[in-house]
This record gives sequence, C-alpha cells and structure tokens, in this order.
Amino acid sequence: MNVYDGLRIAAMLEHHGFVQTDNVADADIILLNTCAVRAKATDKVYSALGRIRRAKKPDAIYGIVGCVARESGADAFKKIRDLNFVLGPQSYHKLPEIINDPDTKLLDINLGGLEKFDELPPITKSPHVAYIPVQEGCNHCCTYCIVPYTRGREISRPFTDIMTETMHAASVGAIEICFLGQNVNGYKFTDENGKTYRLSDIIKQTAKIESVKRIRFTSSYPTEMTDDLIELFGTEQKLLPFLNMPIQSGSDNILKKMNRQYTLDEYTKIIDKFRTVRPDIQISSDFIVGFPGETESDFDATYRVAQNIKYINSYSFKYSPRPHTAAALMENQIPENIKSARLAKLDSLLNENQREFNISCIDKTFDCLYESPDKTGTRHIYRTPYMQPCIVETDCASPMARIKITSANKSCLHGKIID
Ligand code: 5AD
Ligand code: SF4
Repeated sequence: MNVYDGLRIAAMLEHHGFVQTDNVADADIILLNTCAVRAKATDKVYSALGRIRRAKKPDAIYGIVGCVARESGADAFKKIRDLNFVLGPQSYHKLPEIINDPDTKLLDINLGGLEKFDELPPITKSPHVAYIPVQEGCNHCCTYCIVPYTRGREISRPFTDIMTETMHAASVGAIEICFLGQNVNGYKFTDENGKTYRLSDIIKQTAKIESVKRIRFTSSYPTEMTDDLIELFGTEQKLLPFLNMPIQSGSDNILKKMNRQYTLDEYTKIIDKFRTVRPDIQISSDFIVGFPGETESDFDATYRVAQNIKYINSYSFKYSPRPHTAAALMENQIPENIKSARLAKLDSLLNENQREFNISCIDKTFDCLYESPDKTGTRHIYRTPYMQPCIVETDCASPMARIKITSANKSCLHGKIID
C-alpha cells in the first residue's frame, strides 16, 4: 500500500510540473512516505529528516506523509520546527495546497475519506503491473497493531470505481492486476440498488478483460476467506496460485492474546480448503515472535507450523510495542535478546523452506511476467506465478514468456525462455 501511495504522490507532483530527482540538494520539495507498523521504521524517520534538513536547499519545502505523520500529528512540528507539512495516509492529495503557498504549515491527519482516490488516474509501477486499492483501513483489532489507528476503520471503494480503474490500467498495458487493502478480502460494497459486491466479484469481472493475464491480491485475513473466494481459485486460472495469509503465531494462547479470531486448527482447515481446490497453491505468511507472554512452548508451536505448512515466502518480525495498542500495555513483555534468538531460529527455517521450494522448481515451466532489466543491465528479471524473481538472458524480452527453470537458490531462479 505504501508503494502504491508513493507512486500516486510522485504522479501527483509530476502533474504539477515537478520532476523526480535522487539528489536531495537539487529538490524543491522533499517528502518521506512513512510506515508506523514497527518502532524501527518510525525511529528512522526523524533521523532521516535531520539529514534532509542539512542537505536540502534553504527554500526547499519538506515534510512527512503516511502513518508516522498520522501518529505524530502536530508533535512533528515541535520536533522539527521548520517542517512544512505533516499529512496522514488519507490526506496526501492536499499536497498541492502547500506547493501553492509554501509559507504556511500544512497539517491534516484526518481519516475516513476516499477523496484521495478521486484525484488522479491509476498508477502502474512497472508498465505491466497495476496496483488497485479496493479498501483501506481495518476493522480487526489485533492487539499489537497500529494500523486501525493510523489508517482508520475499513472503507470499501465503490465497485464501479474499482472496475473503471482496472479497465483503464488494462488499457494502458497492465497485464497483472494486484488488488490492495489492509484487509483486502474483507471488501464489501453495497450499491444504490442494494446489490452487494465482494472481492470475488471484482476478480471475476477483471478476469473477463482479455489482456489481463494475472490477478492477485494482498493482504488477507484468514477468517474472511469466504467460500466464494476460495472456490474461485479452482475455476479462475488467471488468479495466481500464490496467497499471502498471515498466521502471526502458531499458538492458540498467543493468537487469543493477539485477538486474532481463529485457532491454529481453523487456520489449517482454511489452507486445506485452498489446497483441495488448487493443489498447486503456495502460501506465504507474516509472523510475530516475542509477543508479550510468549513462552518457549508457544514459540515452538509457531516453529512447528512453519515446518508443517512449508510457507514459500514469509515475513517475520520481532514484536514491537506500538502506541495506541493494547499489547503495549500487557505484562510479560519479552526481553530483546530472547526475541532476537527466536527470530533468528524461525528465519533460518523460513529461509530453508524458501530455498527448498525454489529448488523444487528446477525443470518446471512457468508463464512469467516481465519486470525489469537486472542490475547488470544485460539480463532480465521475470516473475513466476509464485512471484519468485527469475533471471533470463535474452535479447528479446516480451511482456509474458514461458520459462523453463534451469537453476535456483534461496533468493532467485534462473531460466530459459522456451517460446
Ligand atoms: N510488531 C511487530 N510486527 C508487527 N506487525 C504488525 N504490527 C506489529 C508489531 N507491533 C506485522 C504483522 C503484520 C505485518 C504487516 O506487520 O505481522 O502482518
Ligand atoms: Fe493490523 Fe492486519 Fe490485524 Fe488489521 S488484520 S489489525 S491490519 S494485523
């Protein structure tokens, strides 16, 4: 979602006549798009602002947008007095106000609006992939998570707006559509005739667009996986066989304290349903280790889940106490050294799972989507249906290619285009 917001902000500024620069000293406007999910990212914001302040031209305006802006509010101006703007994740469309009047200070951290989506046409990162937000915010109240505070309650965008944006993206060359939301599978919109649309309706409608070849979505909440959506994985081949469905912890005791609304058994049954309708499906997860009160045996349960489910690609984090969250006030906070040891142990298993899966792809053939040249500039990176980067040597990189995998390691595949 932050990548999407960043692209949108860049496009908006380009619309106002700005061009992008990598050099802070050249810039007339500088902003940091920020994440508040863990303390580490938030802490970096103020040191980065200090560096920008020293390097920028004296009359350049600068500020923060996104979740740290929402979390800090007017305090950001107290910490850095000459900051020009502080705009929350649903207010960045107000940036032009400060461009027109750089002597004012602009603060807007309000929530609840969809106006930012109205401001500009859809944005694509690579010419072939379009990110389309379908909802924003989250009504789940996981006790560790700051997102319901920073991004607010869930709001689903009107179905017709999403489809207009999707068709536009396809018409300008998007081959893959990635639907976005903090709780994307909770999407629910009822139109003026009383008809209710779910994520499965968006996917079915999108699959009808001939030039769209791949559809995916992120990020999902396990118990919002309704049967209509699960069954679609069996019937809709354009839906990629790859799903991010965070479990967070494998211990029922911790899941309860996290206020995740499922048990390990319920979560596993949802995965089984997916595997029944789409045997080639692979899953990725997010994990938090060292949640308050997590015992060795709770952690072992998480480790066992990672062993059993064999996620192919996962994100794992040390629990980070966040303001405005219930878990930050819980007893039995886990010491940093224990969190680090648990994270290292889990990470080495997750990395090994990922390596094994990549190696199991050798000699298989996949339809892959072109992404970009690699760092050397002489080879090209494609993405497999499981989003693995696959490096190929070719003079003629077409947007979609059938690629046979020839070798693999933990982080990437190598392959040959076969037609
Ligand atoms: N500490 C550590 N990780 C967190 N996440 C969310 N909040 C926290 C926190 N307080 C992780 C979850 C979520 C991902 C986006 O970030 O795993 O799925
Ligand atoms: Fe945060 Fe995701 Fe839980 Fe919502 S479902 S509160 S975004 S972790």
